[in-house]
Amino acid sequence: MVMTTSQFVRDRVGTLSPSPTLAVAKQAQALRRSGVDVVDFGPGEPDFDTPAHIRAAAVKALNDGFTHYTPSRGIPELLAAIAVTLEQFSGLKYDPATEIVVTPGAKQALLEAILTAVESGDEVILFDPSWVSYDAMVRLAGGTPVHVDLNRDFSLDPERLAAALTSRTRAMVIGSPGNPTGYMLTRDELRHLAGVCRRHDLLLISDEIYDRITYGTPPLSAAAIPDMQERTVTINGFSKAYAMTGWRLGYAAAPASFMNDMLKVQEHSVTTATSFAQVGGVAALSGPQEPIAEMVAEFAHRREIVVDGLSALPGVQCLPPDGAFYVFPDISGTGLTGTELAQRCLHQGVAITPGIGFGDAWDTHVRLSFATSEERILTGLERMAQALTTT
Ligand SMILES: Cc1ncc(COP(=O)(O)O)c(C=O)c1O
Repeated sequence: MVMTTSQFVRDRVGTLSPSPTLAVAKQAQALRRSGVDVVDFGPGEPDFDTPAHIRAAAVKALNDGFTHYTPSRGIPELLAAIAVTLEQFSGLKYDPATEIVVTPGAKQALLEAILTAVESGDEVILFDPSWVSYDAMVRLAGGTPVHVDLNRDFSLDPERLAAALTSRTRAMVIGSPGNPTGYMLTRDELRHLAGVCRRHDLLLISDEIYDRITYGTPPLSAAAIPDMQERTVTINGFSKAYAMTGWRLGYAAAPASFMNDMLKVQEHSVTTATSFAQVGGVAALSGPQEPIAEMVAEFAHRREIVVDGLSALPGVQCLPPDGAFYVFPDISGTGLTGTELAQRCLHQGVAITPGIGFGDAWDTHVRLSFATSEERILTGLERMAQALTTT
């Protein structure tokens, strides 16, 4: 019998869940194609253009013929600029020559770190609600994701964490500020996690991609907790802070003993990050930072509108996020699940993401991104109110 191509798909990939945001985006797209106006609360990217000086630097690099492979670790100028940024923001010293790797996006940095640290039989702790790609990456590495629910206010539950640890636990992945909650782990929570990592000899993979988009509380890097730099892989990038999602530029920082092995994954897969995008990255880190401040100020304004608007809806409770551009309101008081509410909203012309996409216990919630204009946010909130009053 001749195999069809689908029969070649093995479980490691075949059983991965599709992205919950993409599933809603597809439905919203189909509606739009049929002429329906849909307010999209789905996007995971800033609705701003990359600042002009960053674009200009990359265009110049292209025109100057900077179009070849770069060193696999990244260009020295960008590695140096990242080292300066890490020291400025977190007080952490990394050697740009051995302890940092530039990657095509933070996602690739996460995947490379997980492939380096995890293999068959290893368990990796994830905190729900969590970004779905962490789970997928652990599975791709052949490991087993172990989901630990956070409290309903998204704080850490030390007992639940303790109950999830086994002799096979190898690593933890944290995201702070988190997607989908915008919650930022407190210093005490990070200290607790650090203690667990030390006692159980675990690697901490700390995704800090939203750390420039915060609303008052300064971000705290996990590696800055005493003795944690030696067992932490810090992940960050340019997508969110500099509105550079399409550029695919991120990085990882960790002790050389880990990064040298992680670099092998990069060399045998993507080789390096795009040459001229890296030049844009240097301009982003070394150039004027005002565009970030302006973007964050606009997000802060929208955050108020979204939190107030959602809190005024019957049965909806919305905690203000510490960072990122998401809210993750509890909608259980409406008597609907997140999946049901998302479907109802879609019929009223609003796309939101059901909480089930971020953890089995979280269909009590929905995720809304406020990376869309104030006017569209207000229209979307009105439509959500209609979705909750019409049956
Ligand atoms: C929590 C989190 N980490 C990482 C990423 C990926 O960022 P990048 O565009 O740099 O790959 C995203 C993007 O949505 C994210 O939400």
